[in-house]
Amino acid sequence: MRDALGEVQSVLVLGGGSDIGRAVCKRLAQGRLNKAILAGRPEDDMESVAADLKAAGIDIVELVTWDATDVASHEEVIGGVFDRFGDIDLVYVPAGLLGDQDAFDADPVYAAKVAEVNYSGLISAGLTAAKHLRAQGHGVIAFMSSVAGLRARKSNFVYGSTKAGLDAFAQGLGDSLVGTGVRVMVVRPGFVHTKMTEGMKPAPFSTTPENVADLLADGLTKGTEVIWAPPVLKYPFFIFRLLPRAIWRKVSAKG
Ligand SMILES: NC(=O)c1ccc[n+]([C@@H]2O[C@H](COP(=O)([O-])OP(=O)(O)OC[C@H]3O[C@@H](n4cnc5c(N)ncnc54)[C@H](OP(=O)(O)O)[C@@H]3O)[C@@H](O)[C@H]2O)c1
Repeated sequence: MRDALGEVQSVLVLGGGSDIGRAVCKRLAQGRLNKAILAGRPEDDMESVAADLKAAGIDIVELVTWDATDVASHEEVIGGVFDRFGDIDLVYVPAGLLGDQDAFDADPVYAAKVAEVNYSGLISAGLTAAKHLRAQGHGVIAFMSSVAGLRARKSNFVYGSTKAGLDAFAQGLGDSLVGTGVRVMVVRPGFVHTKMTEGMKPAPFSTTPENVADLLADGLTKGTEVIWAPPVLKYPFFIFRLLPRAIWRKVSAKG
């Protein structure tokens, strides 16, 4: 249960090996977080995240096997977390794959699999988490969208389209939960230095997982619905969305 100051005490991370997820939990550990359930694929690097979180002073750190694409198991896995560990204040959802547009062009089945992780799998997981949070009467679900979803670039439009879908889903879910005690946050980062972007040329206004975590923690206390990371990105993307397509094609091709 969040305390009187609205600080999170328990979190379920769907995508438990995520670098941004690691930073979010460590940031929340500076407050009242004392229970972190990391859910991810067995091959995911959750052990090292768990060790970091224990070192950060979180008392209870548990690992659970969860695959975004195995939607038939979501009720059992996510519902099982609520049954076993009690109240969950925050369901944080960083699971996602970036992929590569050239590889998608060459292998459309791979593109569909990435879409399953980034979009349809998270619809199933998000609705399942929402059901359990509604039953407990409080909590927040935070989804990781991306500025890439605000307007798709030809250089990564498959990824961008999955984030556009997830962003729309998250906003709709948030609207549907008004009055239930459950809130939805949509986080829209630009380029964040993590293993997902390792070796890539940083985009303007690139940021760190720690900065995203600070913004998310601040948004949790203020009840913010949409978080841009960094916040300045909301201004160029407001304009980008209005540009005629012919101009956007030229602007977005510049990387
Ligand atoms: N980094 C950025 O620049 C950036 C910018 C905007 C938005 N985002 C979004 O922020 C989120 C977190 O990104 P990050 O930078 O922290 O990347 P990350 O460290 O690669 O985290 C993504 C996590 O998703 C997991 N995952 C992949 N497929 C999965 C599946 N089928 N089931 C369950 N988990 C799965 C990954 O596990 P494996 O390691 O086993 O694949 C990984 O732990 C992502 O949704 C990403 O799209 C990132």
